[in-house]
Amino acid sequence: PTPHTDPTGGDGPVVVAHRGASAYAPENTLAAVDRAAAMGIDWVENDVQRTKDGRLVVIHDATLDRTTDVKKLYPRRSPWRVKDFTAAEIARLDAGSWFGPPYAGARVPTLRQYMARVSRNHQKLVLEIKNPQLYPGIERQTLELLSNEGWLDPDHLRHRLVIQSFSADSVRRVHELRPGIRTAYLGTPRTTELPAYARFTDQINSEYTRLSPRYVSTVHALKGPHDMPVKVFAWIVDSGFEAGRLTGFGVDGLITNVPDVVRRAVTAS
Ligand code: G3P
Ligand code: CA
Repeated sequence: PTPHTDPTGGDGPVVVAHRGASAYAPENTLAAVDRAAAMGIDWVENDVQRTKDGRLVVIHDATLDRTTDVKKLYPRRSPWRVKDFTAAEIARLDAGSWFGPPYAGARVPTLRQYMARVSRNHQKLVLEIKNPQLYPGIERQTLELLSNEGWLDPDHLRHRLVIQSFSADSVRRVHELRPGIRTAYLGTPRTTELPAYARFTDQINSEYTRLSPRYVSTVHALKGPHDMPVKVFAWIVDSGFEAGRLTGFGVDGLITNVPDVVRRAVTAS
């Protein structure tokens, strides 16, 4: 039997720091993870992709140019795709200066480095498999790494890990490879399609303007693969007003760049 998994608690929405506390530190860096921890935010979200030589790294865009100094170091390697650079090349890049001088020298973390930091901080992770169509086999590889790092033990499965993707195929693959993992589909399926999603996803993580109280209760009425009500997380909620409104809708999680602001709003509502 698959373990019972409900890492989200249930006492008001959990607050998830999107790409770390990304309004305050460069997204998807260890500094952004630490900034969330310093605010007392235990859930962080990240984006996982793969290098040319097959290493998993944490970065949002399919290309390196927005969030690193890759153009300066490798001016002739346009369009600077993550998948065209080795891990050693990516490790040389400055992923912090674009955000501000205090962060000069921040690096694109490998997934292993990232997991170590989240563990050290006693945090929990919403891990996004990003652009899986570019990286065949990335689901299996990610699960192997998580397993090696101790993240697929029963305690982590129950309390500390959600794996999400915009690709329903990728979410389904994760569920099939390791049914005990809590999964989330990033999107807002039509209500008629929701039962099919509930066969492999424990959560629907929606762009927040797509949500209504009726949609949230329709999702909650479904049982997910672990025989528990399917949950709803909303993204990207960066205003206290919207956070309060969505809390009133009954959402289970709020994914935000400003976790301090959102936590205050949730606590007040
Ligand atoms: O977790 C939700 C959010 O991360 C989805 O959008 O583009 O920031 O990965 P994006
Ligand atoms: Ca993401």
